[in-house]
Amino acid sequence: MTPFEKKLKERLDKREIQKLKRQIIKQKIYSSTEIEIDGKRCINFSSNDYLGLAQQTYQAQSQIGGGASRLVTGNHQAIQNLEKWLEKFYGHGLKALVFGSGYLANLGVISGIVSRGDLVFSDKLNHASIIDGAILSGAKHIRYNHLDYQHLEALLEKHKEIPNKLIVSDATFSMNGDCADLAELVRLKKKYDCILLVDEAHSAGVLGPQGKGLAHSLGIQGGVDIHLGTFSKAYGAYGAYVMTNPLMKEYLINFARTAIYSTVLPPIICEAILQNLRKAKSMDKQRQNLISTSLYFKEKLIQQGWDIGLSETQIVPVILKCSKKALILSKYLNQHGFAGIPIRPPTVQNNEARIRFSLNVDHSKDHLDPLLDVLQKFLKEEI
Ligand SMILES: Cc1ncc(COP(=O)(O)O)c(C=O)c1O
Repeated sequence: MTPFEKKLKERLDKREIQKLKRQIIKQKIYSSTEIEIDGKRCINFSSNDYLGLAQQTYQAQSQIGGGASRLVTGNHQAIQNLEKWLEKFYGHGLKALVFGSGYLANLGVISGIVSRGDLVFSDKLNHASIIDGAILSGAKHIRYNHLDYQHLEALLEKHKEIPNKLIVSDATFSMNGDCADLAELVRLKKKYDCILLVDEAHSAGVLGPQGKGLAHSLGIQGGVDIHLGTFSKAYGAYGAYVMTNPLMKEYLINFARTAIYSTVLPPIICEAILQNLRKAKSMDKQRQNLISTSLYFKEKLIQQGWDIGLSETQIVPVILKCSKKALILSKYLNQHGFAGIPIRPPTVQNNEARIRFSLNVDHSKDHLDPLLDVLQKFLKEEI
């Protein structure tokens, strides 16, 4: 082993000792609610397939590959159709730009619009792709305490002389299930003359009428400069999109490097996305049920005495703090036929390890009640 390899191994060993080492688990997916993990069939409470659309099949009508990047010869009909559909769906003159993934969208948008000398104000619990975008941009990355808009305002006030300021926030926070106060963010962005980017990865398809997301559900979409959504969660596919004004779209086509220097999202994926978008649009009743079942689950968890943080959505964390305990509970759940994957640092902050339960429209009380029984049993056995 070379000294360099030894160093890498030491880093891995350290993760092992801290109970933070990750592994790719052997899995077989049967449906939106059933999965096999390490040979054990389980009810799946750990997927982002919130509308149960990921298991849809798609009869391919066009070719697999895009052939080139969008700006070379990759601007195929399917991606144009997809963007046209999104523009009609969101209305208000917003323009759509499709990216390869949510990660690539955040990286490309943030590093495209700010650079050295500019400022990025970002919630401390924003997704890793937002953090990486800010780092890549070279702008100063200023992180405000989670959902603490007084803190954000104090920071904006301190830096108000800097002309180019971007505020960026997840709409629904992926590991907490709580939501940003978008109305407050719009107020602050106007007061301090910033651009506001909202990442609706976990709210698009889930919140608001027709699943248009959190900003639309509050009627404040006009105050958000860049709406970012993914096709990889509720829409059950892959890829991402940005909805923005025509000038910003033109700008991103020229400066968002992950859109320029990467092969276009393939036609087969764009068509499958469109199929799921059309289905998702008409699922208001299922979305309503998802809110009700999530509320039921959260009430029962609180009654049992679990710390579920401030979850307002279908994402429900059971916060255990200790990584070892998260691993033990996850294993216990698996043994009893439930998939609840442990989330540990660095995905969450130190001492914030948890099981992140995520519900989808196909979960019912028949799935939740047995899970709640097992959680109760775990608490009793622990004592
Ligand atoms: C808030 C947020 N943004 C972006 C992403 C990345 O999206 P994708 O999985 O499509 O790359 C995720 C993924 O979990 C996310 O939670």
